[in-house]
Amino acid sequence: MHEFKYKRNELYCESVSIKRLAEKYGTPLYAYSRKTFLDHYRKIRSAFKAVNPLVCYSVKANSNLSILRMLVKDGAGLDIVSGGELYRALRAGVSPRKIVYASVGKTEQEIGETIRKNILLFNVESVPELVLINQVAERLGKRQQVAIRVNPDIKPKTHKYATTGHGENKFGIDIDTVKNIFLNRWQYEHLDISGIHVHIGSQIVDARPFVRAIEKITKLVKRLERGGIKIRWFNIGGGLGIIYSGEKPQTAQEYAKAVLPLLKRLGARIILEPGRFISGNSGIFLTKVLYVKEAPRKNFAVVDGAMNDLVRPSLYEAYHEILPVMSRSYASSRRARTYDVVGPVCESGDFLGKDRRFIGLEQGNFLAVMGAGAYGFSMASNYNSRPRPAEVLVDGSRVKLIRRREKYSDLVRNEM
Ligand SMILES: Cc1ncc(COP(=O)(O)O)c(C=O)c1O
Repeated sequence: MHEFKYKRNELYCESVSIKRLAEKYGTPLYAYSRKTFLDHYRKIRSAFKAVNPLVCYSVKANSNLSILRMLVKDGAGLDIVSGGELYRALRAGVSPRKIVYASVGKTEQEIGETIRKNILLFNVESVPELVLINQVAERLGKRQQVAIRVNPDIKPKTHKYATTGHGENKFGIDIDTVKNIFLNRWQYEHLDISGIHVHIGSQIVDARPFVRAIEKITKLVKRLERGGIKIRWFNIGGGLGIIYSGEKPQTAQEYAKAVLPLLKRLGARIILEPGRFISGNSGIFLTKVLYVKEAPRKNFAVVDGAMNDLVRPSLYEAYHEILPVMSRSYASSRRARTYDVVGPVCESGDFLGKDRRFIGLEQGNFLAVMGAGAYGFSMASNYNSRPRPAEVLVDGSRVKLIRRREKYSDLVRNEM
């Protein structure tokens, strides 16, 4: 599943000791495994090889340029959601013909910049956005290919902030309106409305909601076909869940087995947009115990990593396994004690884990927060004026610094 394993009671990333990484690069630190990234990307690509899909890695999950370059070199396209992500994607060297662009709030400037770059598809999320893209394309003398993002009104079992295909969510367009857009596509003279996009949410561990969404859309596609309208692209989004603790998510193969029979019937080119599936278990967040604080009602491990570095526990009450980097040093005869692992930020919501058991936890110990490769650094902020951590990429026995630790001067660089 991933390349973070104990060897003789010491945690390693591929062939590199995590303790050595922490000592050399300091903490808090994000550490990634190149092999895990590529294995996961290749797994999803090969599971869908019967339809020769375009796999557009979702940049928002982990947008470090070195990570994007590595995936692009291996053939990935990119799924973007802003002008900033377009900039990153192009800097990473992806062909614009492998870029797809979703977002409910694309600005006129972002639309113009993106049309000029000749990307493959906009995933359009409202009728007024469609009108605006058509106007901008006309002004630029271009014809732009677009897909319509369908909101299939499906509620998968995941955190309420991670559903995106339910009728109450802001994303996509309801099926009836989508049908009308296709029937009246001649109104949008500068657009080639040739695709359908759906993304129902994130960290979905079961294939059934994906199947239900695709079945709903298949009905629409068949109805359009009877009216002479052919869909060229079908983008089934991302959303595949991973293991953080006890989840039993569908594998790429199981997912493909469930949805491929439906997709094959459509006869369209298939696009996928996995983010977490590729990056989630490819990275860890390393932090050091600053203080062990024993209070009457709770024990706290106060660490140097915080919610500004990894917000998922605070934002989604997400569970990340937290492992001691040197398990041998914990295997003393003393009994395990329970701690909340908390950061230095001035919020009671600043925690990385609650009620975690450790044996002999001491000041200066390193802890590894597992499964931090997706929505980790990419959601980090400078809250409490904390410089953001460094990022390193491990490849076998080699380590590359792929983002230097921010300095205090970075905090005020754009202030007047
Ligand atoms: C449109 C779209 N595609 C793909 C993704 C990636 O989702 P995941 O990381 O769950 O695969 C997202 C995540 O929010 C998204 O909004």
